[in-house]
Amino acid sequence: MPLKRVGILTGGGDCSGLNAVIRAVTRTAIIQYKAKVIGLENGFDGLVFGRTMGLTTRNTRDILTLGGTILGTTNKGNPFAYREFNDQGEIVVRDLSDQAMKTFRDLELDCLFVVGGEGTLELAHKFQLMGMPVVGIPKTIDNDLFGTDYTFGFQTAVQVACDAMDRLQTTGRSHDRVMILEVMGRYAGWIALEAGLAGGAHIILIPEIPYNLDYVVTKIQHRIRGGSPFSIIMVAEGACEQGGQRISQGTADNRLQGVEQLGGIGFHLAAQIRERIPLEVRTTVLGHIQRGGSPTSFDRVLGTRLGVAAVDAAARGEFGTMVALKTPDIILVPLGELAGLCRTVPVDHQLLRAAEATGVNLGRGAM
Ligand code: F6P
Repeated sequence: MPLKRVGILTGGGDCSGLNAVIRAVTRTAIIQYKAKVIGLENGFDGLVFGRTMGLTTRNTRDILTLGGTILGTTNKGNPFAYREFNDQGEIVVRDLSDQAMKTFRDLELDCLFVVGGEGTLELAHKFQLMGMPVVGIPKTIDNDLFGTDYTFGFQTAVQVACDAMDRLQTTGRSHDRVMILEVMGRYAGWIALEAGLAGGAHIILIPEIPYNLDYVVTKIQHRIRGGSPFSIIMVAEGACEQGGQRISQGTADNRLQGVEQLGGIGFHLAAQIRERIPLEVRTTVLGHIQRGGSPTSFDRVLGTRLGVAAVDAAARGEFGTMVALKTPDIILVPLGELAGLCRTVPVDHQLLRAAEATGVNLGRGAM
């Protein structure tokens, strides 16, 4: 069946490179397959409530370098368990998946491209099982998806964090301070690890290796004795102390999503260090700055390649799959193989070896 009408949505937290994908899908579908392209707005909400925008080569022509997503997104709005406030301010949960299926049929789409992270792709898989032809396109700054070497958005986030490190290095050195940079990544330490390595952090703390405070303090003291009374610490938002608990802001802001909002370990760690070392300690939380702005060239190219490969896969009828980078190729991975999996940093990963071999303390040994 030739592709005549295809849909695309972006779901979950945004990241740089989404617009590169939207542009690539649109241009490939139109130029190669003469198909019409319909954008669904705000993730699966667009499918549930029929909110759409037509995509053309004209209205996607200037978006390659643009951060965010022109389609909008949400990390709420699971059509299978749609959470809303009722008049009493209580949360009610409804299954609106049939409504989403109806919109898909009403729009006469031949397939839906779902751009998202693990949660969004799991929803895509559920719709595939209900009979909707889907092709997934992986995105997240966290780089925690199975089946792909890298997700677009990650390199941009790493670059932003690395730039921040560079700036903290100079002010930290000028003032002889301990400078802590807290970065995102949820339960995976990829951003902290790569940006920490690239930015010359002296200590890198990631969720996969609960830290021992004694080792962190010893490293700082060692640096003081060696004539460098300043230290730069990179800490992932999901990191926690051995025997301690992950620090989060709870679900206050996220009640409709129902997941915890991580953050706060940077300030917690600063308080811990201050009690043990007579140096000034400052914390910077990079937050959503890592998700915004123009994508790096790597993410623009990866997003473009994934978008093109997704449309080609749909044209061949290879639905229920996700396009993925298996360097140097783009391959297809069955969506069913990915459900519920989170790719964290293996504790014997070569990047960790590179860190420790060059004197970076990971909170798990004296170094
Ligand atoms: O998954 C991407 C991510 O940016 C995580 O690194 C972070 O924990 C989370 O999303 C933040 O989500 P929100 O945009 O809801 O604050």
